[in-house]
Amino acid sequence: MPRDQLDDMLAEKVDKRRERVKDSSDRKAQAAVMSPRVSKILFDMHGKGTIQRLVGIVNAGKEANVYNAIGAGGHELAIKVFRINSQTSKWMQDYILGDPRFARYKKKDSRALMTTWALKEFKNLKRARDAGVPCPEPVAVRENVLVMGFVGEGGTPARRLTEVELADPAKHLNAVLQGMADLIAKARLVHADLSAFNLLYDEGNDQVIFIDFAQGVLMDHPNARKYFDRDVDNVLGYFAGVIPEGLDRDALVDSIIAGKPLRVE
Ligand SMILES: Nc1ncnc2c1ncn2[C@@H]1O[C@H](COP(=O)(O)OP(=O)(O)O)[C@@H](O)[C@H]1O
Ligand SMILES: [Mg+2]
Repeated sequence: MPRDQLDDMLAEKVDKRRERVKDSSDRKAQAAVMSPRVSKILFDMHGKGTIQRLVGIVNAGKEANVYNAIGAGGHELAIKVFRINSQTSKWMQDYILGDPRFARYKKKDSRALMTTWALKEFKNLKRARDAGVPCPEPVAVRENVLVMGFVGEGGTPARRLTEVELADPAKHLNAVLQGMADLIAKARLVHADLSAFNLLYDEGNDQVIFIDFAQGVLMDHPNARKYFDRDVDNVLGYFAGVIPEGLDRDALVDSIIAGKPLRVE
C-alpha cells in the first residue's frame, strides 16, 4: 500500500470519529498526522506482511497514540506509537534506571528514550505472556512503534474497568490477583502502572486483560516494592465493594508475592 494512501485512510477514519468525539478531537486530529518516520516504519511492516491494513485510531493519549489494524491471518492488532516529547520523557527515566535489563542505558534524547520505552513494553508483555498473565500478545517493535494483539472486536477496543459494571466482581478480582501473582512470582515483574484504567474487560471472553506495560520493572529495581504496593492499592480500591471487612492486607500481599494469592469470596 502506498504511504500516502495509508495516511489518507487514517485521516478519513479520524474525521469520522471526530464527529462523534468532540472533546478529544484536537489530539485525535493531530494523531492522524503521522511523522514520516512512523509512516515509514508502518510501511515497512506492511511490506513484511505484519500489518495488512490500518483501520483507524483507537486512543490518543498523552504518551502514546493507539491504532487498530489488521495483521497477518486477518487478526486484529493494536499499534501503539509513543510520542516523542521531552516533557513526558523525564519521569520515564525512573522506570528504566535501576532495571538490570537496561543497566547499560545512558541518559538519551527523547527519541532514543522512546525506542527504549517501546522495547521495554514489548519485553514486559513477552514476560507477562510467558508467565500466563492475560495480556496482549507482543507482535513487533521498532523504534517508538509497538505492535500487539488487539483486545476488542471490529476496531472497538474492550472497555476499561473504569467504564464497566462487572457482573461478578469477586471472580474478576481473584483473576486479577492471580495475574499479579504470576507476574511477580513467575516473571519477576511489577507492572507499576496497574489500575482500572489499564485493565480492559474483554466481554466476549468474560476476562480482564492487563495492558500498558511500559512502566513495568523487574523486582531488582530499587523501587519495585513501592510500585507493587501502589498497584495493590489501586486494585483493592477498585474492587473495594467485594473486599471482605478486616482483610489482612499484609497477608494478601505476601500471598501474591509467593504466587498463591488468598482467594476473596
Ligand atoms: N492491545 C490493545 N487492544 C485494544 N485497545 C488497546 C490496546 N492497547 C491500548 N489500547 C487502548 O488504548 C488506550 C491507551 O493505551 P495504554 O497502553 O493504556 O497507553 P497510555 O495509557 O500510556 O496512553 C487503552 O486505554 C485502550 O483503550
Ligand atoms: Mg494506560
